[in-house]
Amino acid sequence: MLFLASVLTLLILGSYWTILFRQNVEEIHQASLEHIRMETQLEALRMQAQDEAMPQAGDDREIVPLSGTPRTGYEVPLGPRWPDLALRPSAELIGQIEQRYRIKLIQVVGEGALLVILILITMLMLYYMFLVEARVRRSMENFLSTVTHELKTPIAGMKALLQTLSTRSIPEEKQAEYLEMGLRESARLQHLVDNVLVANRLDRKRMQVEVQPVELRPLLERVVGSWRRVFPAAGMLRLSCQDSIVVAADPEAVGIVLDNLLDNAFKYSPQPPHITIDVESDEDSVSIAVGDQGIGMDAADMENIFDKFHRATQNGVKTIKGSGLGLYIARNLTRAVGGELTAESDGRGRGSTFRLRLKPWR
Ligand SMILES: Nc1ncnc2c1ncn2[C@@H]1O[C@H](COP(=O)(O)OP(=O)(O)OP(=O)(O)O)[C@@H](O)[C@H]1O
Ligand SMILES: [Mg+2]
Repeated sequence: MLFLASVLTLLILGSYWTILFRQNVEEIHQASLEHIRMETQLEALRMQAQDEAMPQAGDDREIVPLSGTPRTGYEVPLGPRWPDLALRPSAELIGQIEQRYRIKLIQVVGEGALLVILILITMLMLYYMFLVEARVRRSMENFLSTVTHELKTPIAGMKALLQTLSTRSIPEEKQAEYLEMGLRESARLQHLVDNVLVANRLDRKRMQVEVQPVELRPLLERVVGSWRRVFPAAGMLRLSCQDSIVVAADPEAVGIVLDNLLDNAFKYSPQPPHITIDVESDEDSVSIAVGDQGIGMDAADMENIFDKFHRATQNGVKTIKGSGLGLYIARNLTRAVGGELTAESDGRGRGSTFRLRLKPWR
């Protein structure tokens, strides 16, 4: 509201100044014409007073017959001595004054219009910056409350598990179950801390990637292997990748990207999850598709998922924990190694596929 009021005030001021300057130019123009008219009258009087046989006009004036000549409005009759003649400013002089007036008018109106346009552009830019700032602030607040909560929950969970285990009276099969739960909690904690650190390094341009030949299958097996440790036995995590595919990438960066894609596929799927990793390669690119049969996304949900701190608001997502950093990191790291990361989904409830495209090593 305040912003709109300032824009309106500035626009009104801009238009007011333009009108004021235009009036000034108009007045100066009228004054110049009046000056010429008076000079002509004075000249005519002087001629009548002089004792000359025929009147002589100067450079800027001309003598014209009173009848038969089209009137310009500046004619001053030369009086009783030459009743058929009149003196008037030359057409050239009037033309020059009119020309100067037109140029001044264009200048003033043009400058006014430019001023109004500049005010509008500046205001639009300020408004845009304000929107961006508000969005970042909202995301930051969201992020801080999520991160604090996300840090507290696994720490509290692990503490409770350790306390329970330390009482010793736990049956052995329960102990294994508790240990698995503890591992899952610590993995969640590590995921969050890693993401916050990587995002910070990316933002400060401190993330160094070294593109080198990377054998894809061992890398995928390593990432998938670490996930299998915490994957429920009833779920499915299938990897299909040919041997001998070598990509141009940074193994650490691609590991972080895949880790985040798998974390999402796991998190945004009903339990037990069904996740597939399919690799296809041709001459120009190697595509790694991480697919799930989870909650899926429609076009509106997908719009900003790669933005920092962005979390979709569709039903259920807010109850699933996350900081909104995963895909931001994943896309930035993918770009850093010259690849591309895209999302596909047939809609809500129909699963999602995230496709990571890398260049083959040559
Ligand atoms: N596999 C998926 N299925 C459905 N929605 C997804 C999937 N992956 C990501 N999304 C949507 O994209 C949003 C952003 O994902 P992102 O990984 O950046 O953040 P996050 O998972 O919420 O948090 P973080 O990964 O930092 O813990 C998610 O909040 C979710 O709405
Ligand atoms: Mg995520």
